Amino acid sequence: MPLPERLEELFPRETDLPAEHVPADLPLEQREYLVDGALRRWDGPLQEVLSPVCLREGDRVTPRRLGAYPLLDRGEAMAALAAARRAWDEGRGRWPTLPVAARIEHVERFALRMAEHRDEVVRLLMWEIGKTLPDARKEFDRTVDYLRDTVDALKDLDRVSSRFLVEDGIFAQVRRAPLGAVLCMGPYNYPLNETFTTLIPALIMGNCVVFKPPRLGVLLHRPLLEAFRDCFPPGVVNTVYGDGREVAGPLMASGGVDALAFIGSSRVADLLKGQHPRPHRLRSVLGLEAKNAAVVLADADLELAAAECLLGALSFNGQRCTALKILFVHASRADELLERLAAGIDGLRAGMPWEDGARLTPLPERAAVDFQASLLADAREKGAAVVNARGGEDAATYIHPALVHPVADGMRLYAEEQFGPLVPVLPFTDESEPVRFVVESSYGQQVSLFGDDPERMARLVDPLVNQVCRVNLNSQCQRGPDTFPFTGRKDSAEGTLSVSDALRVFSIRTLVAAKSNDLNKAIITDITRERKSNWLSTDFIL
Ligand code: G3H
Repeated sequence: MPLPERLEELFPRETDLPAEHVPADLPLEQREYLVDGALRRWDGPLQEVLSPVCLREGDRVTPRRLGAYPLLDRGEAMAALAAARRAWDEGRGRWPTLPVAARIEHVERFALRMAEHRDEVVRLLMWEIGKTLPDARKEFDRTVDYLRDTVDALKDLDRVSSRFLVEDGIFAQVRRAPLGAVLCMGPYNYPLNETFTTLIPALIMGNCVVFKPPRLGVLLHRPLLEAFRDCFPPGVVNTVYGDGREVAGPLMASGGVDALAFIGSSRVADLLKGQHPRPHRLRSVLGLEAKNAAVVLADADLELAAAECLLGALSFNGQRCTALKILFVHASRADELLERLAAGIDGLRAGMPWEDGARLTPLPERAAVDFQASLLADAREKGAAVVNARGGEDAATYIHPALVHPVADGMRLYAEEQFGPLVPVLPFTDESEPVRFVVESSYGQQVSLFGDDPERMARLVDPLVNQVCRVNLNSQCQRGPDTFPFTGRKDSAEGTLSVSDALRVFSIRTLVAAKSNDLNKAIITDITRERKSNWLSTDFIL
């Protein structure tokens, strides 16, 4: 469907809304939050939630009000952390001392309960952050799969730890032990998936968690609160909502957070970490900004390169940390690539998240459109032009993708992460130019190389693997499959996440060791045979 003359017409009228894709019982006034195994009621101030989906009435287009969520204060946030610390009880709590097999049962029960809420959560993903229906379903299903894969990975890990090692006359059992209280904070672009890819591994390893959903993407967690309450002992999962400075800052400053899992900006990550009074006690796993480059070499298959670059730059309107955020193309192929990309953008359907085939959707809030517009204005002022038809036009929460060329050092789009539908293109004549960009960038997550000469590819792979953490050949950048390590260098990440790495991130290797003599043999045999300890155990999880 062609882009309407007036972009406002992309937005529906109230009467056009398909009932099956609208969250039930709007507006959703959430007042509950989960602390210490109970849904508490908050009677204080609320945060209004406006949808990226706007409604058209005559000439006016205004964001649909979805509801509201609690703006908790510092006292409530501290109560949530206190509940987590009580459940941890300096490592003596029920949850951290439970056998692995029992913790697995709790998580499996939660996965079943979670699956019952798929449609509700998917609808809220569309309405709260503007994710398309297929992508919202994918986010939900990928998260449930992640839970199941985490269980399998922990079984594998536990099987390896269920035996004793004997070395130099000492025998030992080495296992991974939990760290304590974990604060998990996910991003708005994957509010469910990226919150749960830290929350679930932290939980299953025996930690007690406080989680704070991102500012945009809170209500979609509401349908899961009862499942958390029912599937885990009191205090093991707690939620906080509200302004990060008011709720997350004091938690960090209290020193009561043993591990921080945060996906967001490096500025906020630094603030949070800096507030901890004993930084050496804090374990952090961070997923931060990126400025992943594509390098399209002179011999690249341009049909394939253009298709992958479009997917990489514009899936979910470019709002992925792994998105391709700058495209370097050999000057001899620049015109051809630009033509293909412009035609590709013309072929993408813009619409509301539930509409069939919609690939371009509104951004979560008007401020995100204004940010894109400011980057675009800066590039234009400094000599770049928009190559595709209607690129950069906007209305309310929608901004049409802009293919911006030629982008150069000195423009904001060259170095800053846009996290939106702007596609900067930069021609190069020498391969050292994109390499220099990657080396000088503040970020170091991934790159994509497009070409067909193995020798030339190898020449680029070798320096780039020491600058980023994934080099993709003739493929867009991406996180998945989730069993692959996901991390970055410089300001892009701290720690590694994958199904199995996440189990390691939220635990520490601990061992019980004994000199091999008759006394110790008798003690250990008695403990394991009579199952007197949850730790010293040779049980094998099937
Ligand atoms: O926002 C960053 C996500 O981790 C990217 O994941 O590559 O699967 O979209 P993805």
